[in-house]
This record gives sequence, C-alpha cells and structure tokens, in this order.
Amino acid sequence: MSRINFDHVYYTYDVSSPLPSVALEDISFTLEGHFFSAIIGHTGSGKSTLVQQINALLRPTKGRVIVGEFEINEGKKKIKEIKSLRKNVGVVFQFSEYQLFEETVLKDVSFGPKNFSDSDEDATLKAKNALKKVGIKEEYFTKSPFELSGGEKRRVAIAGMIAMNPEILVLDEPTAGLDPKGAQEILDLFKELYDQGTSILIITHDMNLVLKYCNQVLLMHQGKLKGIYAPSELFYQEELLLETGIDAPEIIEIVKLCEENGLSLNRKEIKDITSLVREIKRCKGK
Ligand SMILES: Nc1ncnc2c1ncn2[C@@H]1O[C@H](COP(=O)(O)OP(=O)(O)OP(=O)(O)O)[C@@H](O)[C@H]1O
Ligand SMILES: [Mg+2]
Repeated sequence: MSRINFDHVYYTYDVSSPLPSVALEDISFTLEGHFFSAIIGHTGSGKSTLVQQINALLRPTKGRVIVGEFEINEGKKKIKEIKSLRKNVGVVFQFSEYQLFEETVLKDVSFGPKNFSDSDEDATLKAKNALKKVGIKEEYFTKSPFELSGGEKRRVAIAGMIAMNPEILVLDEPTAGLDPKGAQEILDLFKELYDQGTSILIITHDMNLVLKYCNQVLLMHQGKLKGIYAPSELFYQEELLLETGIDAPEIIEIVKLCEENGLSLNRKEIKDITSLVREIKRCKGK
C-alpha cells in the first residue's frame, strides 16, 4: 500500500555556510491508500525541496520521511535500500529534460527497467509501451533525446518513470513546456495510471488541473505546510488564497456567480466546465 509520511521534517540548504537557506520548516503529513494529490504553493515555497526528500535525493536536516517500509533521515542509507526505494517511488524532477542522457530515446527509457534487473528484451518492451502511453511516436525511438523539443523531452522523462511501474509516481511540474492540449493529455494519462492503482503526487501551478484531477491538495507557504484541503473547499477560501498567492481556477468565479443568483450547486461535483454545466442543469431541473 502506498504511504508517504513526513515527520517534523526540516531542510536547510548550505547548512554549514555563512548563508544557510531554510527551505522546509517542520513539515508533517501523511498520504496513504490510493491518492491523486497535488502540492501547490507560490514559487520558492519549498515544493521541489519537499519532493526530493521522497526518494532520498535530499535528506532531511532534521526529522524523517517514511515511504512504505523505508525511512529517510539525516543518516546515510545503503545504496541497495535506496535502489529499492526508487523502484517503488518514481520521481520526475522539475527540470527532468536534463535527466535524459542516453544515445537514443528508447535506450534512455529502457535504462530504468534494465537497471532494476529486467532482461534487455523485457526492459525494451516496457520502454516501448511507456513511450506509446506518453504519445511519443515510434519514429522518435531511435532519435537522440537532445534532438527533441522541450515538451517531447519532458514526455520521454515521464516515460522513463512509467516504464518502471512504480507504486507511487511523483511529478514536479510535469506540464511545464507543454501546450494546454498536451498538458491535458498527460494528466489524462496520470488519471489512467491512477485508475489502474498507481498513486500520484503532482506539483503544478495550473489550478485548473488541480481542480479537475486531484482529490487532495497540500498547500505550501514559505517553507511550511499551510494545510491539506479538498480542492472543492480550498478554492473558495478567498483569504487563504490571497495570503498564499494562489489564483483560484476561473471556473470558481462562475460558480460563485451562479450561487449569488440563487442556484444551490453541489461544489464537490464541479471540476471543469462540463461538470459545471451538468450541475447548473440539475439545479434548473433540466
Ligand atoms: N540548491 C539550492 N541552494 C540554495 N537554496 C536553494 C536551492 N534550491 C532551492 N533553494 C531555496 O529553497 C527555497 C525553496 O525552493 P524550491 O525550489 O523548493 O521552491 P519551489 O516551491 O519548488 O519553487 P518553484 O515553484 O519556483 O519551482 C527557495 O527559497 C530557494 O531559493
Ligand atoms: Mg519547484
């Protein structure tokens, strides 16, 4: 079962320098079961620093992170344990295009499964399937990753994690560099993986996507976790949004307008235009 627990986690960059930079302060939360969660927050609020603790790329300066059966604290862990952790939890980093390094797209995506002891044949098959899922055509398989556009590189990086079929998939701004249609397609893919049992944790600045796909939102503010909310509650809390620098999805304004005009909409059901229209029709008895 997927479980991520942060237990009073602090993280400071350049801790022993004259100018240490405190990025996380006393973060505690648990995500468990089957989740599709988002981490949101203003730029610099600590989101990327937080997710890098999840696969031990960074280790807490104080406190601990528990992922499944693994504990990550300030002590060193054996390589073997870290490898096993990274097989269960795939993290696609914010600038994942720089994670690509193999000669060809296919080799790059096969690297993970191969590294986790699949045969070459199995690894290649998994890589091909993952590439198809993210919408990379076969004629790209033999290209160098460096010949691809930013958005294509990002899809390849995501395929690299999907190919390993992790229990939890963590994605730091996976839609950056994609056009709105591309962003939607990638989120639809995550939804499909979620429906098949993978838990998803995504960092994004796109609140429309958060409202549409996520069932839980972690709101970061100045290195602290402000709280965990349902999207259908968070986006109506004007003061909190103002304080933390978050813009609600545009559709929320329309919901409020409808409510001011006497419609009693079920906010929980409203995730995008289509579901809003459905709710309005329901209220009007159509
Ligand atoms: N390598 C680093 N060295 C020193 N300070 C850093 C480093 N990386 C991040 N920081 C600082 O830590 C804080 C949190 O940064 P982080 O990258 O986690 O924010 P973020 O919420 O992911 O922002 P964004 O939305 O812009 O990606 C910021 O104040 C940042 O300046
Ligand atoms: Mg970031």
